[in-house]
Amino acid sequence: MNEAAAVDQYGVVGHPVAHSWSPFIHGMFAKSTAQNVAYRLFDVPPEHFRRDILQLFADGIRGLNVTLPHKQAAAELVNDLTPRAARAQAVNTIAFFEDTALLGDNTDGAGLTADLERNLNLELADLRVLVLGAGGAVRGVLGPLLERELGQLTIANRTADKALRLAAEFADMGRVSGCGFGELSGPAYDLVINATSAGLHGEMPLLPAGIVGATTQCYDMSYGRGDTPFTRWAKSHNAARASKGWGMLVEQAAESFLLWRGIRPNTRAVLDALAEHA
Ligand SMILES: NC(=O)c1ccc[n+]([C@@H]2O[C@H](COP(=O)([O-])OP(=O)(O)OC[C@H]3O[C@@H](n4cnc5c(N)ncnc54)[C@H](OP(=O)(O)O)[C@@H]3O)[C@@H](O)[C@H]2O)c1
Repeated sequence: MNEAAAVDQYGVVGHPVAHSWSPFIHGMFAKSTAQNVAYRLFDVPPEHFRRDILQLFADGIRGLNVTLPHKQAAAELVNDLTPRAARAQAVNTIAFFEDTALLGDNTDGAGLTADLERNLNLELADLRVLVLGAGGAVRGVLGPLLERELGQLTIANRTADKALRLAAEFADMGRVSGCGFGELSGPAYDLVINATSAGLHGEMPLLPAGIVGATTQCYDMSYGRGDTPFTRWAKSHNAARASKGWGMLVEQAAESFLLWRGIRPNTRAVLDALAEHA
């Protein structure tokens, strides 16, 4: 048999996507679980998303991760959605199955809560939580966060309307409200999660100081070497802790791998390997 043909193909589609660590992470998962898979990067601009993704699956790719700015477009493209992806109306994982054709899932929320609870030992129940941003990533994490019986969840976004609409969409799950950054005020939140993409451009949303205090846990979904603009800001406001999104990245990837291969890889070795780059 042709050995190359026996390798199942996967990848991540985004724009931009060159910075992605997903090939490294899935490479380690494949090795540790002895799965014969290959994982590549696909930079696809929004105007070609539908055409290029359908072509990749027609060419035999078994699954894709989907990153910004395509998560909502992916939810519209697939044939079927898992319940959590249907709730989010955003997809970060597509799997090809014979019976469902293209199945869309969203593992961002499971990835974030696994990192907060298991890796960072946070108990989420009753916390006052502020989420910054209202894009595809936020859509994915709102459901799993609200399932934790938070004390309160506020969504704040540069475009306030989007935050208000998201809050209304998830109001059946708990106490959730939306606003613009300028309407935020103290007392300090227990947990502030940055889910804006401002950091990708070295920027930091303009935020009132009173929202962060000495007991506030700050979490940036962005990741990179050294401080991000958000973790730098959090530290300058004496937050109790400022974490980056490496753990979420690894845990959401493990959930995708589980959907594709039926096995959830142990994430510890990958977390340790990435810590050397962080
Ligand atoms: N660690 C992980 O596993 C993980 C998983 C998912 C996402 N992420 C990260 O989370 C971030 C958001 O991803 P996404 O998929 O939600 O992106 P997205 O759908 O493109 O949404 C981007 C969000 O960022 C806001 N924004 C962009 N530039 C801004 C600026 N200069 N100032 C203030 N707000 C700004 C946008 O506000 P408007 O609505 O006003 O445009 C929007 O709310 C990215 O950095 C991504 O890498 C990490």
